Amino acid sequence: MRIAVIGTGNIGGTLGRALAHAGNEVSFGSRQPDSDGAPGDAFERSVPVAEALEGADVVLLAIPAAAVAEFLEEHAGRLAGVLVVDATNNIRAEVANAAAAIKQAAPEARYARAFNTLGWENFAEPSFDGVAADLFFSCAASDRAIVEGLISDVGLRPAFLGEGAQDMVDSLLPIWFTLAQQRGHRRIALRILEA
Ligand SMILES: NC(=O)c1ccc[n+]([C@@H]2O[C@H](COP(=O)([O-])OP(=O)(O)OC[C@H]3O[C@@H](n4cnc5c(N)ncnc54)[C@H](OP(=O)(O)O)[C@@H]3O)[C@@H](O)[C@H]2O)c1
Repeated sequence: MRIAVIGTGNIGGTLGRALAHAGNEVSFGSRQPDSDGAPGDAFERSVPVAEALEGADVVLLAIPAAAVAEFLEEHAGRLAGVLVVDATNNIRAEVANAAAAIKQAAPEARYARAFNTLGWENFAEPSFDGVAADLFFSCAASDRAIVEGLISDVGLRPAFLGEGAQDMVDSLLPIWFTLAQQRGHRRIALRILEA
């Protein structure tokens, strides 16, 4: 899978490394190419955003919500037919995700909502005493297997909530933040128990 990870911070860096280590072909798109990363790991090289997007099957959007409009203005034309995995959060807005903005700017793009309901520390260490945390996500049914593969590659257990269910995915955000605040740490995740 060719994955363009846009944004090289906590989320992009952590997920990009994990996806690369799982065998995906990852390119990191950065505003400051090649200024990030530690030598010797999969994060050695970042390239300009436009270059990272070339030939990508999947684009993982891991930039601040405030930067999404600018990203779309410059690069929406490259997203036709591509699966855009939206990990951005705009917690102060009524709608936390970028689904509508992406649909408007890039109507031909495919959209998935994932990797936004846990703190990045849990993507770096997805296992809790040997048990993988669940990651809730939404996308078209036809993209479900791809997104499940990405989530599994990071070491989490995928939990599909259906198509167009990005707002339902986002409803887990305040729960995670509240638990993290009340318990005073961020190594918290959810797991479905099923008989
Ligand atoms: N932190 C978490 O635990 C967490 C969890 C779930 C979701 N999220 C969401 O994921 C997204 C990324 O979060 P993060 O924690 O990875 O943030 P971060 O560490 O600040 O990294 C954001 C990256 O986005 C890139 N970027 C592009 N345009 C930017 C701009 N105008 N201003 C600042 N950075 C810009 C930067 O990479 P370059 O400098 O290489 O371009 C930067 O490293 C956010 O939307 C956040 O809400 C975060």
